Amino acid sequence: MFDVPAAKCEWVGRWRRNGKRGVNLLGWGIEIRKDVHWTQVTRMEDFQLRLMDLKERIERLKRRKRALILAHNYQRPEVQEIADVVGDSLELAIAAQNTDADIIVFCGVDFMAETAYVLNPDRKVLLPDVGAICPMAQMLNAEMIREARRAHPDAEVVLYVNTSAHAKALADCICTSANAPEIVNAMSSQNIIFGPDKNLSYFVRKRSDKRIITVPEYGICPTHHQISLEDLIAARASHPYAEVVVHPECVPEVQENADFIASTSGMLRYCSKSSASEFVIGTEIGLIYRLKKQNPSKKFYPISENAVCPQMKMHSLPKIEAALEREKPVVRVPEDVAADARRAIERMISHR
Ligand code: 13P
Ligand code: SF4
Repeated sequence: MFDVPAAKCEWVGRWRRNGKRGVNLLGWGIEIRKDVHWTQVTRMEDFQLRLMDLKERIERLKRRKRALILAHNYQRPEVQEIADVVGDSLELAIAAQNTDADIIVFCGVDFMAETAYVLNPDRKVLLPDVGAICPMAQMLNAEMIREARRAHPDAEVVLYVNTSAHAKALADCICTSANAPEIVNAMSSQNIIFGPDKNLSYFVRKRSDKRIITVPEYGICPTHHQISLEDLIAARASHPYAEVVVHPECVPEVQENADFIASTSGMLRYCSKSSASEFVIGTEIGLIYRLKKQNPSKKFYPISENAVCPQMKMHSLPKIEAALEREKPVVRVPEDVAADARRAIERMISHR
């Protein structure tokens, strides 16, 4: 059940329909729209009942429209619960490639929805909130890749999946945090242009004999990059028996002082198998919901309460319902760009 603090409920009660479209209630992502039947909510129980209705309405729409809901591991708990597949970016790309659904509702960020479209251009791909734009993916554009190729003509280009489709179209192969060293080591050239994450680039360099040329030099994920060594030391002091598990988007000194480094699904697998019963988790805090659900007897602590990706949190049940009803916002990629991006993504998928 969606948990709403009392203070927020009071606000819900005070709100009156003002006839405007798309009023966003206190950032909870509850959109009041003219075309949706809505009566004023006065009590907490009413509010929760409406959320139950909402889930049922989404399920009905999903069946009627033959839709598949994909959610990244960082999504809000209620979005993970309504999804058909929850996973890391590699697992979601594979799920998008294999589906025969007519519509894919992608609860993740823009580059993931683009990847789903590129792998399945006959499907309609919906991104419930178009503001879900990954800042890291914005840090690398096509011109930067062309320039790097001009400067290093003998190098091959491996790009992190966290890039725009236009950037992917210029890559020789794509990788995710689940397979980056394997993909780089499988390339034929000794010189690899790699981007946009300089921290993932560090992780790869430590696991490869290749010469890694990082493009751009400053690419980072704001959510992971701000996790500091001090955060890790403080977490170890508070939880001395816990294993520290971090994402390769974390800075080198955090990677070096962790017990294990993995993609989000790699963390899920590791924590399930490990004999430890407590873990400090160094990634976006949304993963902790899934970790706890899969391992009810184990304890999970965020390395930092600040490790939140605002873009990942933009999708909500009302926005998913609206997207399914209206069949938009739609994500598309021009066909010539999609064809080149597909080649690079499929090369990664076939590597498994
Ligand atoms: P994963 O590939 O581990 O799911 O990570 C995606 C991402 O955006 C990490 O910030
Ligand atoms: Fe992008 Fe970082 Fe958010 Fe992942 S966590 S979507 S890399 S900003």
